[in-house]
Amino acid sequence: MCGIVGAVSNRPVCDILVDGLQRLEYRGYDSAGVTILDGAGSASCVKRQGKVGILASALADTQFNGTTGIAHTRWATHGAPSERNAHPHQSGERFFVVHNGIIENHDDLRDALVRDGYVFSSDTDTEVIVHLIHQLSPHYADLRSTVQAVTQKLQGAYGMVVADSQSPDELVVSRSGSPIVIGYGENEHFIASDPLALLPVTRRFSVLEEGDSAHVTREAVRVFDVSGVEVIRAANDFDMKSDASDKAGYKHYMLKEIFEQPEAIRRTLEGRVQSGAVSADAFGAGSQALFSQVKHIQIVACGTSYNAGMVARHWIEQHVGISCSVEIASEFRYRQSFVHDGSLLVTLSQSGETADTLAALRLAQSLNYLASLTICNVVTSSLVRESDFVYLMKAGPEIGVASTKAFTVQLTALLMLCVAVCQAKQTNQTFRDEAVEALLQLPESIQQALTLAEPIKSLADKFADKHHALFLGRGDQYPIAMEGALKLKEISYIHAEAYAAGELKHGPLALVDADMPVVVVAPNNELLDKLKSNIEEVRARGSVMYVFADSDDHFESEPGLDVVNMAHANHLITPILFSIPLQFLSYYVALVKGTDVDQPRNLAKSVTVE
Ligand code: F6R
Repeated sequence: MCGIVGAVSNRPVCDILVDGLQRLEYRGYDSAGVTILDGAGSASCVKRQGKVGILASALADTQFNGTTGIAHTRWATHGAPSERNAHPHQSGERFFVVHNGIIENHDDLRDALVRDGYVFSSDTDTEVIVHLIHQLSPHYADLRSTVQAVTQKLQGAYGMVVADSQSPDELVVSRSGSPIVIGYGENEHFIASDPLALLPVTRRFSVLEEGDSAHVTREAVRVFDVSGVEVIRAANDFDMKSDASDKAGYKHYMLKEIFEQPEAIRRTLEGRVQSGAVSADAFGAGSQALFSQVKHIQIVACGTSYNAGMVARHWIEQHVGISCSVEIASEFRYRQSFVHDGSLLVTLSQSGETADTLAALRLAQSLNYLASLTICNVVTSSLVRESDFVYLMKAGPEIGVASTKAFTVQLTALLMLCVAVCQAKQTNQTFRDEAVEALLQLPESIQQALTLAEPIKSLADKFADKHHALFLGRGDQYPIAMEGALKLKEISYIHAEAYAAGELKHGPLALVDADMPVVVVAPNNELLDKLKSNIEEVRARGSVMYVFADSDDHFESEPGLDVVNMAHANHLITPILFSIPLQFLSYYVALVKGTDVDQPRNLAKSVTVE
């Protein structure tokens, strides 16, 4: 949440910073700002409420020649989204800071600073940082040691960059709980909260560890660990195309990412599913030995990733034959849970920086788990660096706030996990053979499911004036209904709830009328007859239904019942395939409603605060 960019260069940096912000806008988009140091002891700070484009227009008529600067795009936590609360925040005309995270003790720090005569010009928690820097700077030899002293006073999470107009050839960076990378150029260095911001200017990055601070100049980067000891954080080349964050001709990132799914799944399978098996090191060296001992799997995740975990629970218990629990990370981290004997902790996360999931991992490390495994999409992320075993999803950057390809790639990885655990335990060869075959078929089956875009587009008009919708599924399709409801509400702002279809008559049926569209995911499986009875119960109440069915389900469209037929596929991959039409449904409904598909209100990608 929130995006940070910084640069110390030998060329003007304003455009680099604004371009970086635009590439980070998915992380927050309620206000943006930039500070450029002019090199002669002054600084220009320009901030605007709204998206980065508004800031870019405000900057367009002025030529900034400064070669050092910091910039930020914000997702409001403390203080309303407004120009006054936009970053950078400053103390006097000298110190400027951009910050991601939350300073939990900001009230106490603010009171003390006010008593000392500091006047606050924003409602943010961040402003205390910059006044503290101002207050402590006379007592320390340089900016880095001042920032280090200030961080001792902060409780909470931060990734921050500090600029001093009187020292224009350096920036100081610090991280605790919010990611920061350093980008390496020729006689220039960059800082960002995500490497994606800097791909047009460098591919070489080092990642700061928890508690690190860094002193960044044109010529050098010096990194210090939490105790102030200088350390080396290796710089590596980052294998990603600069256009990875372009829309590639699609109207929205979300639509692009929906259509990228066959390729993303091909990439995730590549080299990992072959010769009729999942390769022994697909989940990291030593994972087979670990899996052979696993007796229970505890999955922890948030949002869409949690929904993927809920599907996996069905697969793990049915096909691997061991117990599995799935819990929302924000709940898991604050309760005393029972750790089953031989438990493997699995975190699922697209970003790898979700604060609650990360906290859950750190908690689990103090408990009696066999090991932790993360299924994650971001190689530089905290989850990847802190987990014992890593499955890198290789879905490519996901920019649309509503997760699509990350979900289907997570499911693919989770099905592979089931195969890998069965292999390690030498059980259920029938399932293994069937799953491997279905996985290899998956990219093509998804390609086929993508042809549903047009038929679903024509349904969207029927949803656009509705205020509520119900999504129903049974078994491993119930979490797909949950995911469909989440997608619809987050980008079209239609209130949507998912129910296990059998649960309907225990309450929610009271809501059903002609104004409550009911969406059903109905593949042809052993629960289809039960589901058909549930559908009849709903229809008898005058509801309008949309059924996503298997072509051999024999559903016919008729008044009040719209049927979208999916090609028949192996039952193991139907949860993955049935999520595609639901992605389209939410996308096209949002399009009709004219909402901001990629940057829905109040949301941001990568939830790095609790
Ligand atoms: C919904 C969505 C969120 C994320 C959730 C977890 O479309 O994107 O619900 O799934 O914030 O994020 P990650 O997977 O990055 O941990």
